[in-house]
Amino acid sequence: MQVQVFRTSDEVAAAVADAIEQVLASTPAAVLALATGRTPLAAYAELARRRREGRLDASQAAIVGIDEFAGVPAGDPGSFAAYLEQHVIGPIGFDPRRVERLDGAARNLDAECARYDRALEARGGVHLILLGIGANGHIGFNEPGESLVAATHVVELHASTRQDNASPFGGDVNAVPTRALSIGMQAILGARCVLLVATGADKAATIERALNGPLTTRVPASWLQTHRDVRIYLDREAASLLRGEAVRAG
Ligand code: PGA
Repeated sequence: MQVQVFRTSDEVAAAVADAIEQVLASTPAAVLALATGRTPLAAYAELARRRREGRLDASQAAIVGIDEFAGVPAGDPGSFAAYLEQHVIGPIGFDPRRVERLDGAARNLDAECARYDRALEARGGVHLILLGIGANGHIGFNEPGESLVAATHVVELHASTRQDNASPFGGDVNAVPTRALSIGMQAILGARCVLLVATGADKAATIERALNGPLTTRVPASWLQTHRDVRIYLDREAASLLRGEAVRAG
């Protein structure tokens, strides 16, 4: 694992943008799986700025979604599809024809999950996945529990996850769906390169458990320790509970 700690969240965003820019430069048709939380927003804004300056060309790359709320259609402002439209596809200049979305409004969600795994396979898998981390240790919407699931699947969201996702639903936790679709651990651990970004003190305990703790389904992010090319981007607050020797600038 390569763990990099930065003084500010802006420096984190610039470093994440650098990593994505490098992949797009070396592999213009890369398949990118991009997180749809609050943490990566600054990195997306930085990538959009670089695109406006003519430094970045994402037009050949593909984007695949990581998760989606069940029962929420792509046009709904609370959907992750809407997030990708607003913050990623247009601003960074991805080709809307090269976007694979999980359809939260599909009638048969299990069939939609199976379709999605076939679509990922047909695209040759994921080059780079950018993940946030839930305060409870989830990655994508792979929630902590007795077991984890390899394939794309339907998830029962934890109460804390619904609380953390209330803002696009008008701040009303009761409006946040109880279920979601999420890619599974296979697609995450099968990505050629994994970036995980976390900022702020409220992620510090989870980061410490994910990076230094045992592999456990109680902390899904701990399984990233098994990946060959995982890069962790933290600000000082998120890194504040890591032992010194665990932190090395990369
Ligand atoms: P956040 O979400 O970036 O909004 O904190 C992280 C996650 O739930 O994966």
